[in-house]
Amino acid sequence: MLIKRPKSWEIPERDATPERVYLNRRHFIGGVATAGAALLVGCGNAEDAQAQDGEAADVATTDVTGGGETASLYPAPRNESFTLDRPVTDEELATTYNNFYEFGSHKRIWRNAQNLPLTPWDVTIDGMVEEERTISFYDLVQQMPLEERLYRHRCVEAWSMAVPWSGFPLAALVNWARPLSSATYLRMETFQDRSVASGQRAPGYPWPYVEGLTMAEATNDLPFIATGIYGREMPAQNGAPLRLATPWKYGFKSIKSIVRFTFTDERPLTFWENVGPCEYGFWANVNPEVPHARWSQATEEPLGTGERIPTLMFNGYGEQVAHLYDGITGEDLWH
Ligand code: MTE
Repeated sequence: MLIKRPKSWEIPERDATPERVYLNRRHFIGGVATAGAALLVGCGNAEDAQAQDGEAADVATTDVTGGGETASLYPAPRNESFTLDRPVTDEELATTYNNFYEFGSHKRIWRNAQNLPLTPWDVTIDGMVEEERTISFYDLVQQMPLEERLYRHRCVEAWSMAVPWSGFPLAALVNWARPLSSATYLRMETFQDRSVASGQRAPGYPWPYVEGLTMAEATNDLPFIATGIYGREMPAQNGAPLRLATPWKYGFKSIKSIVRFTFTDERPLTFWENVGPCEYGFWANVNPEVPHARWSQATEEPLGTGERIPTLMFNGYGEQVAHLYDGITGEDLWH
């Protein structure tokens, strides 16, 4: 069992949070507690790491608002072709109930994540490209077509959110990167810095966090590089300064705080696939009819509602992406 002893300098959650949100969150955290811990126990070595990060926060600050050198780019114009079938999640919930294992395996890493230095932030493009290069996030984002999209976001743990992301299509970045036609996968990697990320000091996880898409997926219109949220810069805990949003896949595919995009002809071994290959795979497309090894995926709890609603096939994005999987056989597309 994970027992958290608050440090003397930690602000009690009820003091830092508006009462309505606090009560909602207490309800929510209680309601999905079992599923919330679920990612921890794969069939691999993840249990070893579980003991470590109840060690709590390295730092306590209540600034979760972003507010860095690209703040003036937001709000970005909304792309009205992406609509929702449910209310947008309360902003404070979406920015204080997070998965970001670099900062701990509990959901309240938002204070710890303020440790992450966001400037300067370099992004490397390498592998099978016409020209390998490293560019600052600041320079990169100025060259990309910024817009806002409303997306559903479905965690494998069966909670969900509806989020206004700002950013640009991953396809625009791929186009800018000029990959060779022989590249068949895009591998993405998160920062690695044990001096700021307490989770990376814990043994048992194969850091850095790695994710991957096929080139057909990466050049589809739906995957989005999110650089902002709720009309402002991305806060650290949600994956600043740039993170992926792949709304038809379980949330663990949406890698945060990316530093490297590598074009390759080898399928990347992804972080959770490495941790627990019998529970988490490369594809991870949302399918309510295919249960996780330890729970059903038929329904989900939208963050803060206390209700369960049916989960949609491909999280409701089948029209845009189902064709990507036509003719793929012998693969587990749903874990
Ligand atoms: N990216 C990194 N680098 N580290 C992580 O632990 N967690 C993933 C994904 N991206 C994770 C990550 C999981 S399991 C989920 S559900 C989403 O981020 C959560 O995103 P959110 O906190 O913005 O809701």
